[in-house]
Amino acid sequence: MRILLLNGPNLNLLGRRAPDIYGSATLADVAEQCRAHAARLGHQLEALQSNHEGELIDTIHAARETADGIAFNPGAFSHTSYALHDAIEAAEVPTVEIHISNVREREPWRRISLTEPACVYQIFGRGVAGYLDAISHLHYRMAHPPLTLSYGPHAEQVADLRLPDAPGPHPVAVLVHGGGWTDPYTRDLMDGAAVDLTTRGTATWNIEYRRIPPAGGWRDSIADVTAAVDALSSISGDHGLDLDRVTVVGHSAGAQLGFFGAKTASVRPVVFVSLAGMLDLGNIGPGFDDLISAFLGDDGHARLQEVDPIRALPAGVSTVAVHGRVDRSVPPDQSRRFVEAALVAGDPSRLVELAEADHMDVISPLATGWEEVARACLGGPVRFEDPPPSV
Ligand code: DQA
Repeated sequence: MRILLLNGPNLNLLGRRAPDIYGSATLADVAEQCRAHAARLGHQLEALQSNHEGELIDTIHAARETADGIAFNPGAFSHTSYALHDAIEAAEVPTVEIHISNVREREPWRRISLTEPACVYQIFGRGVAGYLDAISHLHYRMAHPPLTLSYGPHAEQVADLRLPDAPGPHPVAVLVHGGGWTDPYTRDLMDGAAVDLTTRGTATWNIEYRRIPPAGGWRDSIADVTAAVDALSSISGDHGLDLDRVTVVGHSAGAQLGFFGAKTASVRPVVFVSLAGMLDLGNIGPGFDDLISAFLGDDGHARLQEVDPIRALPAGVSTVAVHGRVDRSVPPDQSRRFVEAALVAGDPSRLVELAEADHMDVISPLATGWEEVARACLGGPVRFEDPPPSV
């Protein structure tokens, strides 16, 4: 695949321009990182920056013949340029819009993107790492294009459906991404897992959901995840889904939400799989206080009774908690304590500890340990590295 990395006005100043917002990497650094990342995924990358709207438009037109995907940071033109919207639309080259900064938390005019509706996806607020994520997203989208469906009226109430090649009815893995419920982290985090699991013969339903206020908040997030699981009933006929073989798989904060989806949805999953899950919020450590307060609001800790998976047991479903022993983001004892409590509460539960896995490894098909994760996500038997915890 040939990828065009396109940057708009003022991005030539990266590294010097407001480093507190945009970071210290220069545009040349970014282009180099992107080229290396694209090469690792087997793609060629060409990088171009312009401060001129017309030149960007001409480049996008030309990309029709020369590129299979565009990773595009339109800079401030995304807030002003219908012409760029039309160019992206006319070129019909899948384009991922990137913003380095969190445009939803800055001046109100930055929240509006005129170019986004013409793009296949938007990534913002992840720093320059967002460029690499955009390339990964193009890679997985090309490998297996998803069908994006709405399960509700809100723009965030969408999910990507991928179906295996074989005839159905298909088992289904519902994927709930993590990211601490914050706005910048969205379902592309689960693209790799979705494509891999689909190749292994399960349909995947990689869901988006409303996150922190003002767009969402814990009630909306939980309601969305539950609604997304239940939406399988209305699409199962058209897409050949087997509702007796559904698994709900949540990563990190997505495991907190996935737990409630698995517990309360009318479509009953055969297993809830937590990957590096935040499952015992009351004991997760002070480093998470700000995240939890942003998600739960001012009376956050009073809400724990309603939102903390370990306090809401039993789930009424088998659970498998996978956690890397070298997880530097969410402590592995979250999963240990949860599995012990789940067994006491009567949920058949297993703990799978992966010796070498860090936080993001448990959702990466390229990481060691993935075979174990995939088996759990497919609802298959799970091998223990350790004896199951005794109760
Ligand atoms: C930007 C955000 C825009 O609002 C701004 O005008 C830029 C950079 C970003 O990458 O965060 O130039 O696109």
